[in-house]
Amino acid sequence: MTYFIVGTLLLFFMLFLAAFSIWNVYAIIRGAPFVPSAKKRVQTMISIANLQKTDVLLDLGSGDGRIVRRVAPFVKNARGIEINPSLALLSKVFNTLQHKKNVEIRCADFWHYDLSDVDVLFVYCIDHKMNRLEAKVKKEMKPGARVVSNGFKFSTWKPREEKDGVRLYLL
Ligand SMILES: C[S@@+](CC[C@H](N)C(=O)[O-])C[C@H]1O[C@@H](n2cnc3c(N)ncnc32)[C@H](O)[C@@H]1O
Repeated sequence: MTYFIVGTLLLFFMLFLAAFSIWNVYAIIRGAPFVPSAKKRVQTMISIANLQKTDVLLDLGSGDGRIVRRVAPFVKNARGIEINPSLALLSKVFNTLQHKKNVEIRCADFWHYDLSDVDVLFVYCIDHKMNRLEAKVKKEMKPGARVVSNGFKFSTWKPREEKDGVRLYLL
């Protein structure tokens, strides 16, 4: 019986890993691979963003959802959009287990997501996608909105503030 349970769990884990890896390749093509932000970086992103209780925040490529769960107490609505279904599912499980109410995860491609009602955009993307992202952000986001980028910078857009590898941009 024990062997059966352990075997079943192992099988589920391996299936999850296989699905994760295949989707991660697709994520690399469409954006960036899954590399979770370090705790300290997330803290810097939160402090530089000056989050308000009225803010709608979107984590672009939300991974395992750690950022949306972390920022949820400080904003009206914390959203994540994630292309990898394994990660989106994992985020939803964590959110349910932690009873997160104002958190939303959508499994979709962020290039097709309309950013017009987003007040704060959290980004941890990759260098060669930043120009395309800058064009999308400037076309869709409203004046006064903030973009907080972990690690990577926009090539011509000057940040309003910069701290420990995190940059704040103002629309
Ligand atoms: C560098 S990780 C950042 C994860 C999370 N934001 C964090 O900071 O911990 C980038 C994430 O974006 C996702 N991703 C890549 N391209 C995407 C796309 N076009 N649409 C939605 N998600 C995407 C990846 O699957 C990955 O989880």
